[in-house]
Amino acid sequence: MNKNDNFSQNLKTALDIARHAPSSHNCQPWRVNILDSVPNDYDIKKTEESYFISVSFDDSRLLTSLPTLKREMYTSCGIFSQLLTQAFTYMGYQCDEHWFDNKDLILILSLSLTKTSSKHALKQLHITAIMRFTNRGPYEQVKINIKEYEALISDLNTNIINSQLIHNANLISSIAQLIEDYAGLDFSNKKVWQETYRFIRFDDNKAAEDGFYIRNLFGSVSWIFKQTFRFISHPKNDLLSKIVGLPNYMAKGLANLVKDTPQLIILTAKDDSNYSSLQLGKELADIWLKAQVQGLSFHPLSVLLQNDVPREKLSNILKNNEEILFIARLGVAKTPANKAPRRQIESILN
Ligand SMILES: Cc1cc2nc3c(=O)[nH]c(=O)nc-3n(C[C@H](O)[C@H](O)[C@H](O)COP(=O)(O)O)c2cc1C
Repeated sequence: MNKNDNFSQNLKTALDIARHAPSSHNCQPWRVNILDSVPNDYDIKKTEESYFISVSFDDSRLLTSLPTLKREMYTSCGIFSQLLTQAFTYMGYQCDEHWFDNKDLILILSLSLTKTSSKHALKQLHITAIMRFTNRGPYEQVKINIKEYEALISDLNTNIINSQLIHNANLISSIAQLIEDYAGLDFSNKKVWQETYRFIRFDDNKAAEDGFYIRNLFGSVSWIFKQTFRFISHPKNDLLSKIVGLPNYMAKGLANLVKDTPQLIILTAKDDSNYSSLQLGKELADIWLKAQVQGLSFHPLSVLLQNDVPREKLSNILKNNEEILFIARLGVAKTPANKAPRRQIESILN
């Protein structure tokens, strides 16, 4: 093997898969650089045949309105880097990951070609990554059976991340009540809502590279609903929004969805360090893609984890001693979801 292989084309192929990774608010906070050299003081094997790329935060894209969003930024980049690594592996690269977490730099990947590749697996990964959506609509009253659940988590690295399936109706009802009590925090905290609002794309026909269209959030709704929501929810109209009860209305709507969901899934770790949050993303990438293949959808409920009070209450309800880093509705969606926008490769690769 030598360096005249098609690395830059392969990198683009890998990015074309990884760019479909889900991220909070669809902010896609990642950036990739090809490196000519790597720092000497780190134990990274360098050979003539190695390539190095870095995965960093793109500062201008990070969500910052709450300190706890930092965890979600690491998790989002974890999902992205897992897809990237997986794609390179299927293209026949040995891919070693080096954790830096220094300023914006998160990971350096060292890549060297081997003789084993799988075009079929690469194609499947690409198709599944493109077809995976967050589905925020109602789910069928179908409980997944234990075999399906075990298949979902079969590769989970339980030294770092653990999972819990919640299908007890009383527990789901208590969690729905937490949503009803606390999901309004997303809308009533001006700084948080201002940040979220920036990601809502009200014009269906205008191309975007990030964020969500109204159809991604609410499915297909009337023009009147869209315009009314746009006006009342505008951060400048926060008083009006509170007077007409928008935060409570939104919280109640989400709580009803949760109440009617046959199961929830949580993912936990021993701590909520940056490293655990990144590893969560790597595991979540696999689980979410497997769910997609099994015909199952996810709908994260991060508002419960972003604020201390609901987070603590959730831990108490679930009697889970680990840090809860992810919670989502899980099930068979009644209607298909819509595709959210994505950044182009050129925007990610520097
Ligand atoms: C760490 C993380 C947290 C998320 N939290 C929420 C959430 O609380 N509510 C929600 O509706 N979607 C949530 N999402 C889903 C994203 O909004 C979604 O991935 C993004 O808009 C792109 O859409 P897609 O998943 O359909 O491709 C979360 C995603 C990630 C990775």
